[in-house]
Parts: sequence; C-alpha cells; structure tokens
Amino acid sequence: MDSAQWRPRFRFGQAFTAPAPMDDGEGEAPRRLARILEDLPAEVVECFSGCGSPIPEAIGGRRLLDLGCGTGRDAFLCANLAGPGGFVMGLDREPELLAVARRNVEEAMARFGHPEPNVAFRQGLIEDLAAAELEDEGFDVVISNRALNLVPRKLAVLQEVHRVLKPGGEFYFADVYTDRRLPEEIGSDPEVLREQLGGALYVGDLVRMARRAGFADPRIVSRNPLTLADPDLHARLGGISFWAVTFRLFKIPGLEDGDEDYGQAARYLGTIPGCAHHFCLDAENCFETGRAVRIGGNSDQILRISRFAPHFEILGDRSRHFGPFARTVS
Ligand SMILES: C[S@@+](CC[C@H](N)C(=O)[O-])C[C@H]1O[C@@H](n2cnc3c(N)ncnc32)[C@H](O)[C@@H]1O
Repeated sequence: MDSAQWRPRFRFGQAFTAPAPMDDGEGEAPRRLARILEDLPAEVVECFSGCGSPIPEAIGGRRLLDLGCGTGRDAFLCANLAGPGGFVMGLDREPELLAVARRNVEEAMARFGHPEPNVAFRQGLIEDLAAAELEDEGFDVVISNRALNLVPRKLAVLQEVHRVLKPGGEFYFADVYTDRRLPEEIGSDPEVLREQLGGALYVGDLVRMARRAGFADPRIVSRNPLTLADPDLHARLGGISFWAVTFRLFKIPGLEDGDEDYGQAARYLGTIPGCAHHFCLDAENCFETGRAVRIGGNSDQILRISRFAPHFEILGDRSRHFGPFARTVS
C-alpha cells in the first residue's frame, strides 16, 4: 500500500488544531532538532503524525526504543542525536509504515555520516514487547509519540516499558489526554473516533496507571491544548478538553509518590548538548546554567541516578526532612 494512503488515519483531523511538531520549548534545543529534520528524507517527515516532540536530551551513545514509530521520524531524529555509538529500535504493528522507514535508512545514514546503520525497525505490538523479542533492561530510554492512546491495554504497555528499561532509564512520551474521564457516548462518538481520540485517557488515570506499572513519580514536561474547530463536536463534548501532554517516567527504585523536602538544591552545569543555557527536567523543575535551584527528594534521586547525573551538581543530602516539597517557597 502507498504510504500516502496511511497518512490521514494518523494525523489530527480537521476538527483539531495540533501543536506544531517542535512546540515543546523554545530556543537552542528545538533549533537543533529543526536542523536535523532538514537532513531527514522528505517521505519520512511528511508521514509524521505525532502530537508533540518527545525527543530526549543527553542520549549520545544510548540505546533507545520508539513505540509506535510509524514511518520513523522520531526514531531517525534520535539516531542522529545518539550518534554512531548509540542505537535506536523503532517498533510498529503496521508493515506498510515500517516499509517506508526501512527504505529510508540508507539515505538517512549517509546524510548523518554514520558508517553503519544505528537504527532498525521491527514489527510488533507495543503492549507485548516480549513477543517482539525485546529483552529485560535492554534500553536506556523509551520514547513514543501518539501511540499509547490507540492501545486499549495501556497498563500492559507501561508494564512492558518498565521491564525493558534499564534501572535509571526513562520513558519519555507524548500523547493525547482528556481533563476528565470520557463518558461512553463521547468515547464512541463517530467524530471523536474519526479523529482517533476515543482512546484518550484522563490524565489523572495515566498518572495512577504509571504508578501501578512501577513509575512512582510521573512528571509532566509540557501540556498543549488541542483546540476544537468543529462547533458541533465542541457542543457535544460539553466542558471536556483534549490536551497533548508530554510525560517523563523514570525507572528509579525508591522514588516516593511525591517530592519531599530535604533542603536540597541542584546546579545545572550547562553540559547537555543543545542545552547550554538551561534545561527543564519537567514543567516545574527548570534549571538555568550555574544557578542553584531548590529540588525535592525525588528530583535529587532522578538527577543522581539517571543519565542526567554527569550534568548536575547536587547540594545537600537526604539526612534531614523538612516536610512536603513546595516549589513556590524559595
Ligand atoms: C498516530 S501514529 C504516530 C506514529 C509516529 N509515532 C509519529 O509520530 O509519526 C500511531 C502509530 O502507532 C501504531 N500503533 C498503534 N497501535 C499499535 C500497537 N498496538 N502496537 C504497535 N504499534 C501500534 C500505528 O501503527 C501508528 O504507526
């Protein structure tokens, strides 16, 4: 099947105004991604149908997995950033989309200047990574862009991601969520189904599910409203709103279910490629290079144990507790 025939199925339909692919953040990191995008084969970029930009920072030499990779735009971006010493596996259930990705590997590698391909594409279901022969603790980072909401067994996906991540690893993913649970008649509304939004999860339920899968402290990185353009659909939805949300989930044993205050601070060293001046761990924890910023106990663990560790100096330890961590108090 011609890849163009697949495009409309996975794009935001007329009813919604999707955020631009590089809307997550401003400044040097998006500019860096935009430059790499210019190097990608046009066919790969044209078929993109994600809802955010879950392209992780600090992935040089790392092993990544892209769940529901489609024609591979994000997988190729990550392959560039991971460099020849890193590796990216793209997984999708649709052979036609994988064929587009595969036939562009050689050209992308030539443009990147990689002597050997550091990206591969495999067919499989994201809720059953064992069947796709993906081993325990095989990846540093798992990404996904607008695939989770298409899968009924979302908890199984999160549990599988937890299994295949190395300790200290991260699931960094963007998807469509609602601000409340969808009533059944809305979830099965033909227009909502046509837009592939019927599977959108209430964001609070994603947080609970992530905790059940072993990710104790889910972090929201960005949240962009999807604006309804169809007034009839808008009226049928009542007050329900849809959001493109990017989450970070860290596989770090011992994280508490929320941040506690141990009187600690972190100083970002400005050393993450593409983030010389600032780095945001999540929407509430942004670090300007060189400035000590108060952090809670979980952020301390994330910044000490994850791949971000070499890029931070942590001030203080967890020997003394000062109560719940309140980000607004300085
Ligand atoms: C909206 S598209 C996004 C594709 C790609 N991430 C992008 O940003 O262009 C969703 C993708 O998820 C894939 N998908 C949906 N359910 C899946 C499943 N259970 N297992 C594997 N892939 C799945 C689809 O084939 C499709 O490629």
